[in-house]
Amino acid sequence: MDKLVIRGGNPLQGALHVSGSKNTALPLMAAAILTDGPVELTNIPDLKDIDTFSRVIQVTGTSVNFDPVGHRITLDASGFDRAEAPYELVKRMRASFYMLGALLARAGKARVSLPGGCAWGPRPVDLHLKGMQALGAKVELDQGYVVAEAPGGRLQGGRVTLEPSSVGATINIALAAALARGESVIDNAAIEPDVVHFCTMLQKMGVTMEGIGSRTLHIQGSESLSPVAFENCPDRIEFGTFMIAAAIAGTPDSPVRITGGWTEHLGSVFMDAFERTGSVVSADGDGLLITAPEELRPVSVRTDIYPGFPTDLQAQWTILMARCAGNSKVHETVYPDRFKHIPELQRMGVNAIIVGDEVMIEGGKQIQGTQVMSTDLRASVSLVLAGMVASGETHVHRIYHLDRGYERLEQKLAGAGIDITRVSYDEWADPE
Ligand code: EPZ
Repeated sequence: MDKLVIRGGNPLQGALHVSGSKNTALPLMAAAILTDGPVELTNIPDLKDIDTFSRVIQVTGTSVNFDPVGHRITLDASGFDRAEAPYELVKRMRASFYMLGALLARAGKARVSLPGGCAWGPRPVDLHLKGMQALGAKVELDQGYVVAEAPGGRLQGGRVTLEPSSVGATINIALAAALARGESVIDNAAIEPDVVHFCTMLQKMGVTMEGIGSRTLHIQGSESLSPVAFENCPDRIEFGTFMIAAAIAGTPDSPVRITGGWTEHLGSVFMDAFERTGSVVSADGDGLLITAPEELRPVSVRTDIYPGFPTDLQAQWTILMARCAGNSKVHETVYPDRFKHIPELQRMGVNAIIVGDEVMIEGGKQIQGTQVMSTDLRASVSLVLAGMVASGETHVHRIYHLDRGYERLEQKLAGAGIDITRVSYDEWADPE
């Protein structure tokens, strides 16, 4: 098992590059099942989740070839012969549930394991199932699997309202609707950049869509779709994470350059809050220059669906607030109890208290390095951020969570001046 050892105090200097989006790459890969012939995706990050989903897709007889150096993946569903996504793979990554829509569209049937919960609680899929039923699918639960079938072998266009708006359900239903007979409409559809970028790939494959990026998405089912070459967008959450890293560990006299990100994908709420901390953002060719202020100002935030403050940046923002002299609060409205990182941060001396669905932070105290445990992807990166500015050494354990969603994180940070190394350890032998 691996951990990251960080010796805090070094300034973040130089440049960081944003990799391709994890949460967009996954639906792009699922869409390859909807057609025969090679689908070539570029700017695909070398992440554990990409490897896991590649294995899920290969179960169907689809070939998947990933070039981690070139960040290119080629999928070809010509050999498709099995409409199934097994538990042992789906349990590792809940986005494997996208197979439900893709398999129903491709084969008119699907047997997909229900995804489990995750570190911060239940992650229901009721809206996904409601959407499939709205397209005419018969859906049953059998021994932990969703078993679905389209009468006559093909889904019918239908209409469904998502309450709450759901990224995953929007994507899953769009995958199913792409080959359905007739038009489907998703009301209160998600409009996150991941969803919009995925829809533009479906359009390129031949799906007629209207309302992309709006709350009402119209999808005309096609008789067949064409294989395409398509470029993935950059990871907006990694982008925001690096901006926060620059604000907490950068120095006023040397701006940090972040390349590869698309600012508009972060939404105006995050960008406004970030600049209200006193951090200076300036364009620099195809990159962004982030200048840390002499004194960070506390800015309370409330997470929301796009274009609101991203829930996936909530934990990272808490570290930024811990560095400000003054009080602030972080209100999580998308997921109940997405606060598993707080007890670990409290062990580092961060003054953060959970009150209902809010974290009250009293910033300005020196963060102390110690042994901490990752619990989920975004919580683990917040522990790395804390370690960067802590006194002494921080050991972040169980970083397999981190490897799911951050490509070569320690190399990127070490290349920008941070003292961080990956160490293998036997969890039972590790001195606590
Ligand atoms: C996606 O998860 C992302 N994952 C999450 O990122 C992200 O936090 C989330 O969107 C919100 O932006 C991927 O894209 C793989 P939702 P998803 O369905 O699709 C409720 C990360 O760190 N809901 O938009 O699962 C749900 O409980 C991950 O990269 C239902 O009630 O999120 C939540 O309260 C973590 N029923 C709200 O909707 C359903 O059937 C939004 O969830 C589905 C969702």
